[in-house]
Amino acid sequence: MKTILQLNNSVFSDEGQSSQLADQFVARVRGEDPEARVIRRDLAEHPVPHLNQATFFAGLTAADERTAEQAQAAAHADTLVAELQSADTVVIGVPVYNFLIPSTLKAWFDHVARAGTTFRYTENGPEGLLEGKRAHIFVTSGGQYAGTDIDFAAPYVKYMLGFLGITDVTVTRAEGLAMGEETSLAALESARERVDGLAA
Ligand SMILES: Cc1cc2nc3c(=O)[nH]c(=O)nc-3n(C[C@H](O)[C@H](O)[C@H](O)COP(=O)(O)O)c2cc1C
Repeated sequence: MKTILQLNNSVFSDEGQSSQLADQFVARVRGEDPEARVIRRDLAEHPVPHLNQATFFAGLTAADERTAEQAQAAAHADTLVAELQSADTVVIGVPVYNFLIPSTLKAWFDHVARAGTTFRYTENGPEGLLEGKRAHIFVTSGGQYAGTDIDFAAPYVKYMLGFLGITDVTVTRAEGLAMGEETSLAALESARERVDGLAA
């Protein structure tokens, strides 16, 4: 059974443009494969806490060597890591906020990027430990950034996923959503059409 991990990040929850594109994609996949299991998180409505020292060190300690305190500190991050490990496809809605990814998504990355579990350092540099997964990211922005020097959000998410071993990443953008109705409608229409053709 295919497992999809969907992470929405819009402050507008289900109404957000990035959430709607991610939802459209997941609905399409489920239409084709009704058995698919979807783990859906709205990280804007239910943010994960910022990483702190106790959680960081507990995450680096093997589960069977943790103290009760460490087990408690690592529990939430363990769940996030397990969800990611169980997913065949990772779907992320990425609204551009202040030129970057939402801090909610950064907080999630801080929990799931766990040395020795999802990546490791080698003599040749870091190596992602997640294998056989693909990702779809849906990036929405008021301005247009693709191919410019201020295109920070999409390349960062792609890089982070690749750092964890997920190198098959498809980016769908709807840009210029604050650049007038014509530009906005055309961008959304084109993104929606693209979603219909994306491989699950
Ligand atoms: C808090 C906030 C910050 C934003 N910052 C930017 C920005 O830096 N650059 C940009 O192009 N658009 C910015 N926008 C516009 C959003 O990227 C745009 O509305 C996008 O559609 C949001 O996706 P969403 O509807 O899924 O939340 C911002 C919107 C909000 C609410």
